[in-house]
Amino acid sequence: MIRIDKYLSDMGCGTRTELKKMIRSGKVYMLTPDGEKCCKDPAAKIPEDTELVIRAERENAVCIRYEEFQYILLNKPQGVVSAVTDPIHETVTDICRGYGIRDDISPVGRLDLDTEGLILLTNDGALAHRLLAPDKHVEKEYEVRVRVPFTGNGEALVQHFAEGIDIPESDKGNDAFRSKSAKLVISGTEPDLAHVTITEGKYHQVKRMFAAVGNEVVHLKRIRMGSLTLPGDLKAGEYIKLSSPDADFKQEA
Ligand code: URA
Repeated sequence: MIRIDKYLSDMGCGTRTELKKMIRSGKVYMLTPDGEKCCKDPAAKIPEDTELVIRAERENAVCIRYEEFQYILLNKPQGVVSAVTDPIHETVTDICRGYGIRDDISPVGRLDLDTEGLILLTNDGALAHRLLAPDKHVEKEYEVRVRVPFTGNGEALVQHFAEGIDIPESDKGNDAFRSKSAKLVISGTEPDLAHVTITEGKYHQVKRMFAAVGNEVVHLKRIRMGSLTLPGDLKAGEYIKLSSPDADFKQEA
């Protein structure tokens, strides 16, 4: 059982204060076998599987179902920060906010401000932890556009990525390291395009790998994490709710 105001605040429908007001003013209904029943007591306790309807605007009814865990796959646009809050930029959670989206989701890992593509948001901390644990080697695949086209040196570069690259300390003081084996697939048709798959997640890793071999990443997009693939028709800034990531993620993580 859960208080109706907490139910709605957990599900991203407003602050507790806003919701108390909304409930008292008769805008929240429970779906019962006998039809909709208005509930005006914010402290009323209801079973978690009760469906609620908010009639905040006259024409618009929004149906809410309680979900303990949510998994949201966002196509992060460039210029958006992989964080919950940020003093300057819009964040990935800002994009996903709304009725029915849990207020406690956060991104699993980070993409740089100028990187776009697949990012998972969830409130399932255990899953997030397993996905990020270095010893789990979850694959991350990126589409990469580079400044210097791949001509001539393709095979040697593929080999170099597979064997590991010595990455110097970053300009921000992040430690030097040798990258683990990565898969580089150079496009057969576009000389500045490649896919790279890594199993680590060090600071600016892909950019630093290409910089270490004398190139520069000009555009980076994550297209896969584990067996979760960015849908081709999901535009930057759009997201989908995953109903059962378990099959994909939990077995891998
Ligand atoms: N590697 C990078 O350099 N940047 C990212 O955002 C992700 C991987």
